[in-house]
Amino acid sequence: MKFRAIMGALCAAGLMCGVATAQAAESVEVLHWWTSGGESKAVGVLKDDMTKQGYTWKDFAVAGGAGAAAMTALKTQVISGNAPSAAQIKGPLIQEWASQGVLVNIDSVAGDWKKNLPPEIDKIMHAEGHYVAAPFSVHRVNWLYINKAALDKAGGKVPTSWPEFFAVADKMKAAGIMPIAMGGQPWQDLTLWEDVVLSQGADFYKKALVDLDQKTLTSDKMVQVFDTVRKIQGYFDSGRTGRDWNLATAMVINGKAGMQFMGDWAKGEFANASKKAGSDYICAAVPGTEKSYTFNVDSFVFFQQKGQKAATPGQLALAKTIMSPEFQEQFSLYKGSIPVRLGVSMDKFDDCAKKSYADEQTAIKSGGYVPSLAHGMAQPDAAAGAISDVVTKFMNSSQDSKSAVAALAKAAKTK
Ligand code: BGC
Repeated sequence: MKFRAIMGALCAAGLMCGVATAQAAESVEVLHWWTSGGESKAVGVLKDDMTKQGYTWKDFAVAGGAGAAAMTALKTQVISGNAPSAAQIKGPLIQEWASQGVLVNIDSVAGDWKKNLPPEIDKIMHAEGHYVAAPFSVHRVNWLYINKAALDKAGGKVPTSWPEFFAVADKMKAAGIMPIAMGGQPWQDLTLWEDVVLSQGADFYKKALVDLDQKTLTSDKMVQVFDTVRKIQGYFDSGRTGRDWNLATAMVINGKAGMQFMGDWAKGEFANASKKAGSDYICAAVPGTEKSYTFNVDSFVFFQQKGQKAATPGQLALAKTIMSPEFQEQFSLYKGSIPVRLGVSMDKFDDCAKKSYADEQTAIKSGGYVPSLAHGMAQPDAAAGAISDVVTKFMNSSQDSKSAVAALAKAAKTK
């Protein structure tokens, strides 16, 4: 007798009806913003795993890098009583959603997570003492991607300081190569700006963007940060308005542009285009940030489903799968990240991922491991949004650095 027929017979006999329908037919609706080539491949691994386990995957993908559009869509869904089973939420936003009383806890599948996660990250997955989020992987944000052929043609070397960077950019320009591929959305502006903040040192970064220390925010060093950003902008092309990050990555992949500042989800695009780290492209820490590491950990939270306070079998299966070693490996291979779960073998990973892993360990020990502001890890939504507005205004106008610094200090007080 086939499985369905057996279940049907048991059900007719008054046995196991609920269990059978709940498990075999549960549809899990998953809200995320992974829509680029590399991102889709990575989330496809989860979809396939869930399908194999007998669940129906209902994709709720909302395009838009860094998730601003996805977060707006999520609020609408939750307010209208149609919360998805799971949503891509990270950093302090996890606690913000938990405090609304709309999440379920996933403790029952998280028995061994504490010993398998870095403590900084384990903490973020909790709200009020319970696990409410499942982590996927660690993205490093402070990367500079360089097209190897463009670098060779320009006769430059991988820059480790801003003067070296500007020297390479000038050489590329002289060789007829557009030096920097830049996209045109506020989060991309903020990503570059936080890179430059980090180049003033991890302590400076922490005081400025984690502690929101007014003295640091209004310091001469912060004026220099804006000055440097302004100088970098001189190497952008004129067509960046509205450009998506992956289109900017494609410009570096196909040699139209020489370099891009972007987190290592960009590496997922290089991999998807069959480009090899080291020979086709170079991944280098942003100039002046070699010893530091801005981390960005993607995670899913799970929403209470209609009439149910506890996690459904599908939600628990999702959380368990996300943290399984096999999934952690394959997801990151496609995504450009490194597994967040400790002890997953790095053998199959490329040199950039190996460097990310080694640099992460060093940065954790040296105090250089800092949360990314641009990717929702450092501040609650309101403060991060206010700072982002200041940076984007600066980068899209001729505002001077000193007045941007004054606006920044004010924005940091946003609660
Ligand atoms: C997310 C990544 C994603 C990137 C671009 C980041 O905020 O953490 O997973 O690939 O945005 O959309």
